[in-house]
Amino acid sequence: MAKRTAGDTDLTRVDVGDKDTYPVYIGTGSLNRLTDLLPGVGRQALVVTDRHVARRYLPRVSGALRDADLQVKSLVLPPGERTKSIRFLQRVLAKMVRSGMTRGSVVVALGGGVVGDLAGFAASVYMRGCPLVQIPTTLLAQVDSSVGGKTGINLKQGKNLAGSFYNPGLVLVDLQTLDTLPAREFNAGFAELLKYGLIFNEPLYRELESVLNRYPRGLKEALLADPGLLSRAVTRAVKIKAEIVTADMRENDLRMILNFGHTFGHAAEQLTRYRRFLHGEAVVLGMEMAVRLSALSGRLDREAAGQVVASLGRFPMPRVGGLRPRPMYRQMRRDKKMRDGRLTFILLDEVGTAVTETGVSRKQVLQSIRETLDNRAAIRRGRRG
Ligand SMILES: NC(=O)c1ccc[n+]([C@@H]2O[C@H](COP(=O)([O-])OP(=O)(O)OC[C@H]3O[C@@H](n4cnc5c(N)ncnc54)[C@H](O)[C@@H]3O)[C@@H](O)[C@H]2O)c1
Repeated sequence: MAKRTAGDTDLTRVDVGDKDTYPVYIGTGSLNRLTDLLPGVGRQALVVTDRHVARRYLPRVSGALRDADLQVKSLVLPPGERTKSIRFLQRVLAKMVRSGMTRGSVVVALGGGVVGDLAGFAASVYMRGCPLVQIPTTLLAQVDSSVGGKTGINLKQGKNLAGSFYNPGLVLVDLQTLDTLPAREFNAGFAELLKYGLIFNEPLYRELESVLNRYPRGLKEALLADPGLLSRAVTRAVKIKAEIVTADMRENDLRMILNFGHTFGHAAEQLTRYRRFLHGEAVVLGMEMAVRLSALSGRLDREAAGQVVASLGRFPMPRVGGLRPRPMYRQMRRDKKMRDGRLTFILLDEVGTAVTETGVSRKQVLQSIRETLDNRAAIRRGRRG
């Protein structure tokens, strides 16, 4: 990892991959550096973004691309998960054709994970692949979806069912864009940061845990007020993701630990039809279940598990009413991460060390779900009472 300084914008660089390596630059105000960081591309650029992000950042990004002598077109899409669909993929591809883009033209994904996944997928299939630049503007996209090369869309039949592994040529993370991110969206990204700490880096987890314990209702303000901590946490998370995907691009083994809390979380999202929880919120719920299961199955020390559970309990969460252990378990068995008919769980041996496990009993899984749902309901009653 190298530090680059230019003008008043300090950037940290993390390289991802062993062949076709690409850089992730992280900094505050790094959008100012887009012009000189662009990899060599053809003459045209299409910026794909959504309405919320376009209003705030599209003029700056388009300007920076023009300064790099590119002809710039943009496509502004409706915000939200529904945009990650065949219909909008067609819209992006049609715009690329109409704009006369070639195989050398660059697609710039400016926005959260929805825009990143959709535009990334479009770049991967347009004329069998054209250059891609990711400019993630949500915390979740900065620490997770923009790094690692997974792109895709949802089908009517399920989430992320069509997609590709396709690496960008550049990821530019500007921490300043988080200023305008709604607090709840910020929290969802914070959840992914907690995940990296729990599975891979105890010191990162401890730093974040302390923020969560002190400012559970003001995570965004607390992190923005401490730019050093924010930048350190994002950089560590990106480094962890880079290390894991470099070792296991196609999710054969090690990359699976990134799914910590996700098998449970996906079931909660699906059973509430993606309307109640943001992904990160469901992941926190799922991480509590996974931590309880780690203790129940004898892996994680009970006291350590209890501490993590107490901290996760402070994370702001929608109500869990209506979720039940058995339907959740049935839903989990439909997960695409099933192997040979067995559910694979990511569990903790200790804080900072995750393992994959296929040998836990149904009874233990149901108990970990039940305890978590009861705990969440009690926390909610306590807040109201
Ligand atoms: N490819 C991967 O590896 C990967 C990993 C994790 C998640 N994902 C995908 O990411 C998607 C979720 O991404 P997300 O959480 O970023 O959601 P999102 O893209 O829907 O963005 C959340 C909201 O924040 C708004 N927004 C974005 N940046 C903003 C800013 N700086 N200021 C103000 N508003 C802003 C957006 O307009 C949107 O309303 C899901 O579809 C998920 O499947 C992909």
